[in-house]
Amino acid sequence: MATGLDGVIAAQTRLSHVDGEAGRLILRGFELEQLAGHWTFEEVAALLWQDIVPHAADLAGSLGQARCAAWQRFHPLLPQLAGMSAIEGMRFLLAAVPDEPADATGLLGAAGVAMAAALRAATNAAPLSPNADAGHAADLLRMLRGQAGDASEVRAFETYLVAAMDHGLNASTFTARVVASTEAGLASAVVAALGALKGPLHGGAPGPVLDMLDAIAEAANADAWIDAAIARGERLMGFGHRIYRVRDPRADVLKHAVSGLRGRDNRIALAEAVEQAGLKALARHKPGRRLDVNTEFYTALLLEALAIARCGFTPVFAAARTAGWIAHACEQQQTGRLLRPASQYIGPWPEPQAA
Ligand code: ACO
Repeated sequence: MATGLDGVIAAQTRLSHVDGEAGRLILRGFELEQLAGHWTFEEVAALLWQDIVPHAADLAGSLGQARCAAWQRFHPLLPQLAGMSAIEGMRFLLAAVPDEPADATGLLGAAGVAMAAALRAATNAAPLSPNADAGHAADLLRMLRGQAGDASEVRAFETYLVAAMDHGLNASTFTARVVASTEAGLASAVVAALGALKGPLHGGAPGPVLDMLDAIAEAANADAWIDAAIARGERLMGFGHRIYRVRDPRADVLKHAVSGLRGRDNRIALAEAVEQAGLKALARHKPGRRLDVNTEFYTALLLEALAIARCGFTPVFAAARTAGWIAHACEQQQTGRLLRPASQYIGPWPEPQAA
């Protein structure tokens, strides 16, 4: 039995395909490399949403208005964010979005605003209101940092948002599809997916990747530190993937994006040394199972280079992935079929009853 549902096909989708043998991520007919760094966030979201949301091509205008509407909804709730982590705050705010009427654009805008407001609150900074006329990536970056990005920063951040938008039937997307299949509604599907994303085996890894780089500190320490961590039975954060048997293609896209930012050479050199040490150690630890860096490794470097607080990495991921979750939730709803797998009972059976 596949205890982790490995290889089980639970849905048909037109949205994205992960080719783990070839290291390809295909988004609705395009290679990731054709989109990330070239298309805007709104353009790629419209590509995913083309047959589930009317006028998806107009997303650039309507998403700005959706951010402003979300700000109005969330503003009275912001004092209640005190004491919450960024991811808890984001979930709290999104739970206030109604399931009816279903509004994909409104929900995507709300996810961005909730992410930024919750991160600001968690870092004791005043939340900032959106600008309807800005691009989604530029506006999110300004709202979460309190400072607008220059052109290269916005490009790097947009590259990240596109690379993180969709990735087959990962754990959080599966969660969104299960909830959508019950007809609970889009907002409920996204809130549930957020819960699945935050675990360290899924979207919670990039913060710990930086903790590892900080602990290693210098390239010369990498081999010894990594070997000791493996010997303690720890998992190396930012390495390994359920599907990829080669390098995660998102890692290269993100490494290229971070290389375009100023002043990151030393950090990239350290990351490369850790990457090499990790590859060597994992090849010895699991011979025959190639464990390479995944998206979270260079996500960590990119978001750090953009001066985004570590506690915000998973919420930023969620704000991007919300576009994919919504697309999958709508696609699942259109099948009209409840997702309800079977389990194999291995517990005790009742004793035969005396007649
Ligand atoms: N460090 C050490 N050992 C590892 C690692 C790692 N990063 N990844 C896998 N292994 C080991 C597993 O423990 C397993 O050993 P076992 O057979 O003795 O149990 C073996 O390698 C093979 O594991 P797989 O079946 O290929 O990996 P699995 O699908 O179970 O796990 C996962 C995938 C959860 C991503 C894992 O690689 C991991 O924990 N990585 C670190 C956390 C991380 O980077 N998460 C982000 C993933 S990307 C994303 O979700 C956006």
